[in-house]
Amino acid sequence: MAAALVAGQGAPQEALLAARWTARTAAPVFLVAYLASTLWRLWPGALTAALLKRRRQWGLGFALAHSIHLAALLVNIIAFRPRPAATLIGGGLAYALIYLMALTSNDASQRLLGRWWKWLHRIGIHYIWLIFTISYASRAVHADPAYHVEGRILAPLFLAALGLRLYARLGRR
Ligand code: HEM
Repeated sequence: MAAALVAGQGAPQEALLAARWTARTAAPVFLVAYLASTLWRLWPGALTAALLKRRRQWGLGFALAHSIHLAALLVNIIAFRPRPAATLIGGGLAYALIYLMALTSNDASQRLLGRWWKWLHRIGIHYIWLIFTISYASRAVHADPAYHVEGRILAPLFLAALGLRLYARLGRR
């Protein structure tokens, strides 16, 4: 957000860059949480074991990072550029899942919810993955070529992350 305030020229551009860059910094934190168990399954070792052990903290770190995106995007859409209802509903549902997952990321909730906990977290993490992938895929083919670089690097990265998860779960069985 500080970088956006320095780089932007005028409040509308500062708000846009803040929304853009806060999502971009949250993306790698999400990918670590998304891939922690996959990396350990495929390459067991000290580093992957440490990532797996701290997966809950990576997930909570992502919830915090994406809360900063929420603050930035609220300024952007309320003050400068309202977004269509479909974006607000799709993104709003992702935020509902992020906070449900963050609130239940503790041993007591895990015990209380039993099998439902697994379903909530499995569906939630893939829905968030879907929103990231759609966001970057739409940038990859955006009418404005300025969006292409990040879309064409990060959409394949998110697809590869899903592929790796599927390979670790199904391929190696
Ligand atoms: C109602 C909810 C949301 C709104 C209104 C919103 C709004 C925005 C805005 C205004 C931008 C900057 C657009 C630009 O660069 O031109 C942005 C970027 C982005 N948002 Fe959100 N967002 C929402 C939720 C989410 C969620 C839940 C995710 C992921 C799970 C997400 C992922 C992204 C990504 C990947 C970018 C592009 C970052 C980049 O350029 O690297 N957003 N969003």
